[in-house]
Order: sequence, then structure tokens, then C-alpha cells
Amino acid sequence: MLNSKQLSLIAATFLGLNVTASTHPFIVTDHAMIQEGQKSLSSLEIIKQEQGIIIAKVAEDEKSNLSHIAHEDHHRCGGYFAFETLAQAESFVIDSKNNDTTKAVLADYTINQEDTVTEYIAKAQELNIRSTMLKLSSFNNRYYKSETGTESQEWLKAYWTDLTKHRSDITVEFFNHSGWSQPSVIATIKGESSDVIVVGGHADSIAGWWSREKARAPGADDNASGIATITETLKVLAESGYTPKKTIKFMAYAAEEVGLLGSKDIARTFKQDGVNVVGVLQSDMTNHNGSNTDITLITDFTNEAQNNFLGNLIDKYLPELTWGRDTCGYACSDHASWTSQGFPASIPFEAKKNDMNHNIHTANDTLERMGGEANHALKFAKLALSFVIELDR
Ligand code: BES
Ligand code: ZN
Repeated sequence: MLNSKQLSLIAATFLGLNVTASTHPFIVTDHAMIQEGQKSLSSLEIIKQEQGIIIAKVAEDEKSNLSHIAHEDHHRCGGYFAFETLAQAESFVIDSKNNDTTKAVLADYTINQEDTVTEYIAKAQELNIRSTMLKLSSFNNRYYKSETGTESQEWLKAYWTDLTKHRSDITVEFFNHSGWSQPSVIATIKGESSDVIVVGGHADSIAGWWSREKARAPGADDNASGIATITETLKVLAESGYTPKKTIKFMAYAAEEVGLLGSKDIARTFKQDGVNVVGVLQSDMTNHNGSNTDITLITDFTNEAQNNFLGNLIDKYLPELTWGRDTCGYACSDHASWTSQGFPASIPFEAKKNDMNHNIHTANDTLERMGGEANHALKFAKLALSFVIELDR
């Protein structure tokens, strides 16, 4: 078990990662990646190695080639972690010996499930996402301390239970938190292995400054859209009989809007229990089509190798879509809770930060003000399905 000093070291390592747009030339990876890289990358320089883990340095303009190698030419290894300084890379390796963070380096980001992914993404329906969004926004608010904040989670648990009732391998449970009333909801599709894939988003909403318990907070985009997106992902997998190898968990977090409280509690618990979480996908704000690119991958407080994997998934399975990268600038959603516990997390976002939906956290965050349909969110449900199936096999 890690002591608190080790934990804070890991947190510091991750929190220092990609916070600014600075360069991260120091990479931590494995032998096979380096062997491939040495064939084509002139700047690649090995600095240290031990027990199969290598710290190397690579020029920023060759890093994208390295990602390419990780995904295209190499079928065993998933990628690399990048750092600003050698010291950060070194402390990451030291920490990794005491926990399972290196599993992410060895995560398999190979894309080879074309038939299954193509079949499943065709099943995702805009109308289902729209109706879940409408239902969730019909609660006066989903504030973590209000009665309707608990009622909306009771509704979601019942809905997920109903969607999966024909499956004995799927359970839907509350994760209760001490300190506030709203529970998180977790649906688990049990696989053969104990490796876990997490697809999550926050279920709570917020508006106003005083009497937030009573304020109208439909939170249609923030974040009924994300919960509706993952609900459709769960529905498609459950109804079409997908039986995973890994265990897949869908999570609707409580109390994100007041400091990521629900996801922090869960990520800490999973870490403490030694759960091997191989990938986390955050679904927060998916239905405001505000930018000229369809999907924006947030690069801070996220895992770069897994972000590259998501970019490759879009190119392969959603070639009609465009995507780019941007930063949040701070720990803006629940992905950061997983990142700070050392798990690889990503957040594909609805727009560039500058083009974000300015109605969030007000009574105007409604579906109507997003055009009354959920076609943008549908893209994210398809990406989530690709992510789950390709990471699973
Ligand atoms: N969905 C937002 C995060 C967000 C907003 C991402 C705009 C990108 C653009 C989230 O629910 C939120 O409001 N987060 C808080 C921070 C959190 C730690 C309370 C925020 O952004 O102020
Ligand atoms: Zn919010």
C-alpha cells in the first residue's frame, strides 16, 4: 500500500503534467517502442533504462511520429508518458515501481476490432440521447445537497437497471458518499478479467449563488448531455449482447460542481482497493456544437497516449468528423480525479474552450437552446463505444 508521501508524489507528478502548453521532451516507455523509434526518429536519445522501462528524450516535432509508431507499427505496447523535466520522468518511474501506473504504458491501444466497432456504433440513436437529456433536465436541479439531486440519481439507477435487466452479468448500484446526500451511480458489466475500463460523467447540476438547493438548474449540456451519452453507450452494449473481457464500469458521479467530490471519493477508493483501472473516459458537455471541429481532446490533466488513441479512433471509425486539442487550464472535471490517482484519463469535449456553451450553470442551460436535438452528443456516444470495445480487446 502506498503511503501518503508516495501518493502526493504521484499527484505532484501528474498535476505538473501538461498544465501549460510547454514542451514535454522526456518520455517513459518500453524497449519495443524504443527499438521501433530508433529506426525513424533522429532525435531519439536513451537516457536511462531499468527493468524494461526506458527514459528517453525526443524532439517535440518528432513526438507525433512516436505516437504513430505506438499505434500502427507496434502491437504490444500502448505508448508513452511525456514530461517536462528529467526529474519528473524519474520520479514517475520510481512511483511506478510501487503501484500499477506503468500498466498504462503497456496498455494496448492497438485498433483491430473493426467488425465489432462498426456494428455497434451504427446502433447508437440520437432520439434516446435526447430523451434522457430531457428527463434529467426536468428535475428542478440535480444539486448535490437538494432532494431533487438525490431523486434524479434514483431515477437514473432505475433507468440503467431497466435497460440492463435481461443481463445477469450487469449490476447497477449506488456509491454512497459521507458528507452529502447525493449518491453516485455505477453500472458494472462484469468481464472475465479484473481489469477495469471506466466511462463516466457527472450527474449533478448547479446554478445561482444563494439557495442553490432551490435554484432552477436544468444542466442540459452540463451535464445531462454527458450522462445521456454514456447511457446510450451502456444501452447499445447491453441490448446487443456485448460480453466484455475486461470489466466495464459506467459512472454517474455526484457532486462534481462543488469540487469533483464524488469522483475524488471513487478514484481514491479504487486506488486504495488496488483496482487496475486501464482507462478512464470522461463525458462532460457533449451537445453544444460550438466549434469548427467536432471533438476537442483536452490535453491537461489527461493521459497523452490515451488521447492519441482517441484521435486514432476518430480517424478510423468516425472519418467524417474533425478533431483538435485544447486545454482547460485547470482541473475542470472528473478526469482530473482519476489522473491524480495515477490512472490514464481523457475528456473528449464538445468545443474549443473559447467556443464553449455560456449558458452552463444558469437556468438557460436547456436542450432548446442547443437546437432541440442531440446529434452532437451522438458523435461522443459512438466514440465511447469505439473506446470501450478497442480497449477491451
Ligand atoms: N463541465 C464543467 C467543466 C468545463 C466547463 C469544461 C467549461 C470545459 C469548459 C464542469 O462541470 C465545471 O463546471 N467545472 C468547474 C470546476 C470544478 C472543479 C467545480 C468549473 O469549470 O468551474
Ligand atoms: Zn459545470
